[in-house]
Amino acid sequence: MFSSFPLFPEAASKVARQVDHLYFFLIAVTVFFSLLIGCLVIFFAIKYRRRSEVELPEPITGSIKLETLWTAVPLVLVMVMFVWGASVYFTISRPPDDAMQIYVVGKQWMWKLQHPGGQREINELHLALNRAVKLTMASEDVIHSFYVPAFRVKADVVPGRYTSTWFKPDKVGTYHLFCAEYCGTKHSGMIGQVIVMEPAQYQIWLSGGSSEGPLSARGEKLFQSLACNTCHRADGKGRGPVLAGIFGKPVSLQTGQKVIVDEAYIRESILNPTAKVVEGYQPVMPTFQGLISEEGLMQIIAYIQSLGLPGATINAQPGDSQPVTSERQGPRK
Ligand code: CUA
Repeated sequence: MFSSFPLFPEAASKVARQVDHLYFFLIAVTVFFSLLIGCLVIFFAIKYRRRSEVELPEPITGSIKLETLWTAVPLVLVMVMFVWGASVYFTISRPPDDAMQIYVVGKQWMWKLQHPGGQREINELHLALNRAVKLTMASEDVIHSFYVPAFRVKADVVPGRYTSTWFKPDKVGTYHLFCAEYCGTKHSGMIGQVIVMEPAQYQIWLSGGSSEGPLSARGEKLFQSLACNTCHRADGKGRGPVLAGIFGKPVSLQTGQKVIVDEAYIRESILNPTAKVVEGYQPVMPTFQGLISEEGLMQIIAYIQSLGLPGATINAQPGDSQPVTSERQGPRK
């Protein structure tokens, strides 16, 4: 309804409208009470003005009724705001299970996006209508922030960790993508477009792209070229855990704790392998810090995710150590 009003961005997802409704409610409450209080100040100032030099004000004894009223009314109002806001917040924080994964890397000064099918884009993101999208984001350098006003989505992209957000576009169109965190000289140029297409057109776009194969295939290649497969052997006889079927599952650590094998855990295990060593294994893995880009990490994660073999367990026998084939030995802690 505000698309003709240039200060207000278009809403192109259900969440965007939910955010707007909450926003308008807050504005309405604020405006109502500002006006009410402003008018009462003026009204009482006139009504109770001093009419003669000798006039003394009447003492006020207080009123339980009034006290209760102006405690209860704001309480109810803020509780409505709290519950409403929390419900929108929870919707925004939890991506639906069928969401499509898109990997985003921010760097000075561009957005690099990877589709699960292997299509790669820079400063452009093509999406299908009514298809939920989950973004997994990392930064190569400084903090950026992925901001698409039309979806009311803004999430920081932080070096050294994954952040994520999601949205479900429900309107065909081209929308602005901004970097919303000051990140250096060309921060203002770190912009792009999100292009939402009809599913049929999206399919045409998909088939027109990349010949490099899906993301997981590229991850597999990287996995082999970094010789990860010499330790993470599929037969369970390697020096490292079997990776098949572990994604999304809990795993026991040496410390007795359990962690869920998610993007963040895999990333940490590649860059800082001794941080959370799986029970039954030695902290012998070298760090790959500096040897693999954020995009490469995402590809390997997609590969591990694709290894969803039924019946595979991570705690397969650590077994007899294999001779080390790589000359790089990890730091032992
Ligand atoms: Cu990236 Cu501002």
